[in-house]
Amino acid sequence: MERSKVLITYTTMSGSTQEIAEFVSNQFTYLGQPVELHPCSEIKDLKAISGIVIGAPIYMFHLHKEAHRFLQRHQKSLVDLPVAVFAGGAYGPNAAQDALEVRKNLDNELAKFVWLKPVSVLLVGGRFDPARLRFPYNLIPALKQAPASDARNWEDIHAWVDSLPSLLANPIQQTLVEERSRS
Ligand SMILES: Cc1cc2nc3c(=O)[nH]c(=O)nc-3n(C[C@H](O)[C@H](O)[C@H](O)COP(=O)(O)O)c2cc1C
Repeated sequence: MERSKVLITYTTMSGSTQEIAEFVSNQFTYLGQPVELHPCSEIKDLKAISGIVIGAPIYMFHLHKEAHRFLQRHQKSLVDLPVAVFAGGAYGPNAAQDALEVRKNLDNELAKFVWLKPVSVLLVGGRFDPARLRFPYNLIPALKQAPASDARNWEDIHAWVDSLPSLLANPIQQTLVEERSRS
């Protein structure tokens, strides 16, 4: 089976990571790159996939658990595929200052998967919307009363996505395709 599609996969609690994943998917399509877009939890196998973009939010200093599960479940396939990662985190007036610490959290989380060598990692700002809080965070009065904010920088995200097709071009797969076309 020829691998030709990039998989954009994500996990989200309040929707902001999903919106970024949709943006990434639309931009890849615009660039002429075939993609599939699915939540991490729905991915059964990576048979037809030539590269992956995975997005997940950071909650309580950790990448969302569904992203951990995805990486564990698909380790065998992922070691041979180029993987790009984006993660949403800090929001509010201190988002820019907090980003350095959050980046350390993110790098520590990814380092738990010693076999994972992402071709690119982007930390994006987070969005906070008290109306979208999910259990158990919707039970915390201070969070429910906190103001909404959105620190996602769409220009940065756009520039990152434009850099991905060449980074995700899988040299192993390209070699196979070239060898096949020669024989
Ligand atoms: C209860 C709670 C805890 C959070 N913990 C962190 C954190 O430890 N580090 C961080 O950078 N962002 C943290 N965030 C911000 C989220 O990562 C951010 O809002 C993100 O955009 C949410 O993504 P989602 O809408 O896809 O769920 C937290 C947000 C909430 C509501």
